[in-house]
Amino acid sequence: MDNRTTKSRIEWVSESCRLLTGIEREFSETRPFRDLTIGTGIHLEPKTAVLLCTLKSGGARVVATGNLSSTQPETVDYLLAHGIEVIAEQTIDQSVHDLSLNQIVAETPDLLLDNGGDLFAIYAENPYPNLLGGTEETASGRMRLEPMREQLNKPILVINDSPIKQFAENRHAVGQSIFESYMRLTNRSTNGKRVTVFGYGACGKGVAANFRNANAVVSVVDVDPVTTLEAHLDGFRTPLRQEAVGDADIIVTETGSVNIVTAADIPDFKDGVILINGGHFPTEIAVSELCASRSVVRRE
Ligand SMILES: NC(=O)c1ccc[n+]([C@@H]2O[C@H](COP(=O)([O-])OP(=O)(O)OC[C@H]3O[C@@H](n4cnc5c(N)ncnc54)[C@H](O)[C@@H]3O)[C@@H](O)[C@H]2O)c1
Repeated sequence: MDNRTTKSRIEWVSESCRLLTGIEREFSETRPFRDLTIGTGIHLEPKTAVLLCTLKSGGARVVATGNLSSTQPETVDYLLAHGIEVIAEQTIDQSVHDLSLNQIVAETPDLLLDNGGDLFAIYAENPYPNLLGGTEETASGRMRLEPMREQLNKPILVINDSPIKQFAENRHAVGQSIFESYMRLTNRSTNGKRVTVFGYGACGKGVAANFRNANAVVSVVDVDPVTTLEAHLDGFRTPLRQEAVGDADIIVTETGSVNIVTAADIPDFKDGVILINGGHFPTEIAVSELCASRSVVRRE
């Protein structure tokens, strides 16, 4: 994709974000972040580019990195051209990504915008005096930061607690984007396919609903029996875990937990099962362990 296409995508997103662009106009007059540095660790893609430019128009110096694996290089180029300091590269190597995260915190930002708790976790190890607080975007970050509450001792707005985030993003947007990614990346159908969704929280509900709406037979596995009952009353199958794994053509993890699907499941898998992780961290599916197994055959 060339720069002109990226620019037009970001401008198109900007036209769709009328609330944000209204705030941007207001911020350029009121300059609420004058003399402040904002450090961010959120996905770097067209929608967040609009957010970062809005913060800059409020007077902030913005130092930005992305999340593991999702950084879009064209968005980075766009941000650099618009005065945002970006320290990020598209990588699936956690150690490379950690370098970028550490560099953001080393700038001692006054505010942090985090997604997954990466920046606040680094701050907790080496606190500095001027941090005012910040935001955490997602369920996994909330889980990670909760035990550090006293250590952090700063106001952190958890966006995930917003009811609108719960239904508008987690349920509707994540559900649809996981479904759409499956369609686009596999070029396969869903009609009559058997889908198992691990985790029936806000995101899992959306995933399950989207696949069911596309004529798949959907099973749900959740560690919480009350949530499992909810899935049952919503009309989903709720078999025991082993049956749900063995029955599936497609397995989606949406739990915020680790090692939901591992090499121990291989004997139960259908040949050719498609594994999808929608959780924030890529550790819900033990990919390296699965790939290292002799029963897994690499197909080009
Ligand atoms: N892909 C995206 O764009 C996107 C967007 C928002 C959130 N997320 C991530 O998706 C994940 C889920 O978020 P959520 O808001 O639905 O969380 P949630 O807390 O609402 O739901 C998680 C569900 O998983 C269940 N669960 C936990 N451990 C389990 C296990 N071992 N087996 C089966 N079920 C288990 C819980 O009981 C709960 O019902 C998080 O990692 C979150 O950060 C991703």
